[in-house]
Amino acid sequence: MKKRFVNIGPIDRIPLGQGISFLIDGEEIAVFRSRGGEIFAIENRCPHRQGPLSEGIIGGGKVICPLHGHKFDLATGQGGEKHECVRVFKVWKDEDQIFMEWPTAKIKPQEKDCAMVGL
Ligand code: FES
Repeated sequence: MKKRFVNIGPIDRIPLGQGISFLIDGEEIAVFRSRGGEIFAIENRCPHRQGPLSEGIIGGGKVICPLHGHKFDLATGQGGEKHECVRVFKVWKDEDQIFMEWPTAKIKPQEKDCAMVGL
């Protein structure tokens, strides 16, 4: 699958210990900045009932969905519930900007399962 790099803006846009959502090619992506300064990107909608994960609390490398409390690992996308997971995206900081690797091909629905987490 071809990929491209997307500049999603300055790192200071995301407060430490929080996340915000971005709309990229019509898909909502949650980007988090841990208190330690690490950056993570996962799909924004919780697979349980579409809760906005970008509004969840992060800690210990996980995000807690604000609606019903399901947890997801920010690095792998794996949820606490069996078969529940979210896609993860590669992100990095270059000077004061955040960049994300973004697939150019549309993700097929059948690829959105736990086996594909981590790209
Ligand atoms: S919508 Fe996320 S846990 Fe229910």
